[in-house]
Formats: sequence, C-alpha cells, structure tokens
Amino acid sequence: MPIAPHDLDHERQLWDAYAESVFKACLEPAFRWTQYHDHPGAPGPELLGGPGTALEIGCGTGRALAYLTQQGVKGTGVDLSPVMVERAAAQWEPLGVEFVQADVLGYLNSIGQRFDAVYSVFGAAWFTAPERLFPLVAAHLNPGGVFAFSQPPAIPGAYGPQGMYKGGFAGPAMYTYRYSYEPQDWARFLAEAGFVHVDVSVLHAPTPGHIGTLIGRAVRP
Ligand SMILES: C[S@@+](CC[C@H](N)C(=O)[O-])C[C@H]1O[C@@H](n2cnc3c(N)ncnc32)[C@H](O)[C@@H]1O
Repeated sequence: MPIAPHDLDHERQLWDAYAESVFKACLEPAFRWTQYHDHPGAPGPELLGGPGTALEIGCGTGRALAYLTQQGVKGTGVDLSPVMVERAAAQWEPLGVEFVQADVLGYLNSIGQRFDAVYSVFGAAWFTAPERLFPLVAAHLNPGGVFAFSQPPAIPGAYGPQGMYKGGFAGPAMYTYRYSYEPQDWARFLAEAGFVHVDVSVLHAPTPGHIGTLIGRAVRP
C-alpha cells in the first residue's frame, strides 16, 4: 500500500488553523466515538475495556480525555498542533489530564511507557499510515490492552492516503493525508501488527443513507 510523505509542517499549520475554530468557551467533557450527538446503538467508553491508563492519539480538544479522567482514568493526550495542545492543556490540565505536543510516531518512538488503552476519535489513526502506526501502538500497550479508533468510512474506490486541502483552494497550501480502507483491510493491518480479537466494522448513521462511522478495536495479546 502507498504511504504519503510525512510532511509535518504542512500538517501542523492545517491543524493549528483548525484548532482556532473548535475551541468554544462552553466545551464540556464528553466521550463520543461518532460524529452524531445522538447515535442509537453507538458504543461508549466501555469499548476501551475499563483502563487505568489511556493515551489518546490526535486528542484535539481533549474533551474525551477530560471525560475519562473524571471517571478515574489517568489520561494522556498527544497532538501535533501546538495551538490545540496549548488550549486543551489550559482547559483540562487542572483535572489531571496530561498533554504532549508531538507527532504520534515521534512520540511513541521516544517513550518507554505502556498504557492499558490507546485510542483515536477521528484522530491520528486516521491521519497516519497504519503500517507505521499500528506496530508502535501495539508496542506501547500492556498485555491485554485495547487499541480502538473511529473515523469516517472510505469513499468507495478511494483507498490508501487521500490528500486533503484545508480552506477554499486559495492562499497558503495547508494539507494533510488521511488514510482510507475498507474494514477488512484495517483488520489486516491490525493483525499484521500482532493484535488479536480484531473487530472492524461500519456503524450505520442514525439517519438511513447518511455517512456512517468506521470503528476498529483490537487487543494486544
Ligand atoms: C479531526 S481532529 C479530532 C480530534 C479529537 N477527536 C477532538 O474531538 O477534538 C484530528 C486531530 O488529530 C491531530 N493529528 C493529526 N495528525 C497527527 C499526528 N501525526 N500526530 C498527532 N496528532 C495528529 C490533529 O492535530 C487534530 O487535533
């Protein structure tokens, strides 16, 4: 499978610009795997298996980590965007959440720590080549630890790294790559990285015909 260049300057600029638009004063702790506020049948944080420690990769606003921390989990978030991390830390560090500004691959390559759960909600698992990311995630989970992620399903026929510009196709080029595969291909990447109990499927949207949510879960033996 092709892998896109890991051009972190372009990606960082894009996510810094995105960060400016997502922080609202009224942001509350909340944990949702899907893009819909009310999503009958959607799983909740129980998908993580009741961890004592959890790492969110591409944690964005950090509100999912804030929710987990309120439930007694020791939460750590890593995110590429300095703006995002600065704002998330200002909001949630008083609760005890730890934030790190780094590329997920660089971060995982630099730490010796392991977690009970690693997860991504439309986060770094969507924007990082699975061949590179998944073995590193497995290496940083405790035995029995859970890796779970959610993101939009692939557009039929468009697989591998998908280039994406931010904005109206004018001005400075800010772009990133997101990775799109069918569930069976995500499952294969997980199995190749050594995970077991692999389950990847698309949850239907609450409204028939609307965009569903791809959800993956696997366990480190
Ligand atoms: C669409 S946002 C979702 C964030 C989060 N789930 C939320 O609710 O705010 C994607 C996040 O992934 C981060 N990201 C993208 N590529 C990354 C990478 N290589 N390493 C770490 N974080 C990354 C971005 O900075 C951004 O904050």
